[in-house]
Amino acid sequence: MKITIGCDHGALALKAAVKDVLKEFPDVEVDDVGTYTEDSVDYPDIAEKICAKVTSGESTFGIALCGTGIGISIACNKIHGIRAALCGDVYSAKMSRHHNNANVLAMGGRVTGPGPAGEIVRAFLTEQFDGGRHERRVNKIMALESK
Ligand code: RB5
Repeated sequence: MKITIGCDHGALALKAAVKDVLKEFPDVEVDDVGTYTEDSVDYPDIAEKICAKVTSGESTFGIALCGTGIGISIACNKIHGIRAALCGDVYSAKMSRHHNNANVLAMGGRVTGPGPAGEIVRAFLTEQFDGGRHERRVNKIMALESK
């Protein structure tokens, strides 16, 4: 499975740490859409690059990182077909898959350290969507896109 990862200048170190964690998953191919330097960039541009790969089906999941994770998660959630979950703890990461069928994991490089972020990524990638009543709710979320 392919995972597209991207960050703004506020999460370069976190992106490197997450990419190290992704090496633990032999079936994961990492697609890094930047940014690659400390130069300031606009996180909506990174969100757009990540989400294009997810909505086209090229990537199964996106990992979106900025200073707080807030801006990039808001941006991702403006894109049709995206369910981005801003997670700062493992329980939220698990539930974002079980209940929300999240397809983008967002985190903040100035908020979440590399250790917790690694645990969050492991949870996000190994937990599954529960379906059932949660599918009905997720379908209602997606229907909001056309209202
Ligand atoms: C960039 O300085 C910062 O605003 C961004 O990384 C993020 O925290 C926005 O939500």
